Amino acid sequence: MTHSLKYKAVISINMASKTAVEKITKEDALLLLKTNNVPEDVVTHSKKVAELAKETAEQIKSRGHRVDVEFVETAALLHDIGRGVTHGITHGLEGGRMLSSYPRYARAVENHLGAGLTKKEAAELGLPRRDFIPRTIEEKIVAWADKHVSGGRIVAENKLVRKLPLGHPASLRALALDEEVNELAGVDMFLKKE
Ligand SMILES: [Fe+2]
Repeated sequence: MTHSLKYKAVISINMASKTAVEKITKEDALLLLKTNNVPEDVVTHSKKVAELAKETAEQIKSRGHRVDVEFVETAALLHDIGRGVTHGITHGLEGGRMLSSYPRYARAVENHLGAGLTKKEAAELGLPRRDFIPRTIEEKIVAWADKHVSGGRIVAENKLVRKLPLGHPASLRALALDEEVNELAGVDMFLKKE
């Protein structure tokens, strides 16, 4: 598929919403996944990530933190949109490019890999030499929720921690993110579910 076709859906949404072009609705996000050829199993995964992310954002908000719950849900739905192009490590970056008209969403999508990548790690993986670290509370919730959904199933154990050797820097970063989210939520989100 050519790039112009890939971006057509994004552009048409820009045209459709004359006001608040910065915002993507949940419905538009689902449409974007479809028109950008994101495979069905990835859409199922993304919906589950969005469900967990939204629930967690609501819990964090109920504790008095400022968090844009609607943005979290939509950004989580879009986090793997780049998989319509590639399942490789560049899918985050690719997704960010597809959403370049929406920088806030693009950043959340680019920064969802692992619990973030340092500049050095990004360069080693063949990505542009800059860091891809989730910084806002919303970006952190999206990256975190993705690590706790395997396929279409919510998993209490962080996927990255399970996959990597003990003490690996990316694993430690994932554990730190788990801790931060639990701290913000004031509860272990998985214990809450039991
Ligand atoms: Fe991803």
